[in-house]
Amino acid sequence: MKSSKIALITGCTSGIGKTFSVKFAQEGYDLILVARNTDKLKELSDYLSQTYRIKPVVIACGLEKPEAADYIFRRIQELNLQIDVLVNNAGFNEFGSFIKTSSEKEHDMMYLHMFFVTDMMKLFLPSMLDNKQGQILNIGSTGSYISCPYNAVYAATKSYILSVSKGIGAELKGTGVTITTLCPGSTKTEFAAKAGMEDTLLFKLFVMTPERVADIGYKALMKGKKAVVAGMYNKMLVASSFILPSKLVDYLSRIMLGKQHNHTVL
Ligand SMILES: NC(=O)c1ccc[n+]([C@@H]2O[C@H](COP(=O)([O-])OP(=O)(O)OC[C@H]3O[C@@H](n4cnc5c(N)ncnc54)[C@H](OP(=O)(O)O)[C@@H]3O)[C@@H](O)[C@H]2O)c1
Repeated sequence: MKSSKIALITGCTSGIGKTFSVKFAQEGYDLILVARNTDKLKELSDYLSQTYRIKPVVIACGLEKPEAADYIFRRIQELNLQIDVLVNNAGFNEFGSFIKTSSEKEHDMMYLHMFFVTDMMKLFLPSMLDNKQGQILNIGSTGSYISCPYNAVYAATKSYILSVSKGIGAELKGTGVTITTLCPGSTKTEFAAKAGMEDTLLFKLFVMTPERVADIGYKALMKGKKAVVAGMYNKMLVASSFILPSKLVDYLSRIMLGKQHNHTVL
């Protein structure tokens, strides 16, 4: 009998990643759960074991560290496991005026969103290609398409994720391995509060649930789509940013993201 497929999910202790973990368990996958908070990892692992009769492997690791991807890869090799699905979901935002935000946090964010995600694909793609099957889901953002004031570095890292995923994905055509980028807009998770942006208009309008976002991402992944923007409102937001004059897009973005910084929005 064939054993279950295995999905590795980063950033699984809350929000979209936690929802993905439940979704993949429901769909019969075994799981490798990766995040930093050991108590939350144990709680999630216990819940999934009891509810879905699986035994997740838990890896506690700060993914902003240069050695993180190698460490995870080695742990999985030691356990003699083969990853079928890789979900690069972990992420955070350092939000605010660029001249005031922390360089250290921005470097961690750039490392996590760009270097770590790239290294994970570099390490796990060869065995997926040997097996002629594998699926990678990288989490972008509507910021992957739209430059954002007060979110400038974050949006740039998410742009990188979309671009690198599409580029590598095109190299993989016909191999049985696909890369999908899920681009959510504002979603009801811990993300906004951690970044101190829960009072922005962006997080007051059209906020989606993580369940809906994960469902859209899961379906796109299973279809092998290159990219998907989550939800009609976010699709319209992205489309309008291509159509409207850039001055107007900047003005609207500052209204959506900028008021609490006491900058004039005009
Ligand atoms: N929520 C939104 O509005 C929104 C919109 C667009 C895109 N996104 C993207 O969606 C993804 C998931 O975010 P979310 O909304 O679910 O946020 P969340 O509720 O804050 O969850 C973030 C997850 O990432 C993990 N994480 C953060 N930094 C980490 C690090 N340095 N090392 C290891 N794990 C780390 C956290 O776990 P630990 O603290 O346990 O490590 C947590 O499990 C992110 O990539 C985010 O950029 C979110």
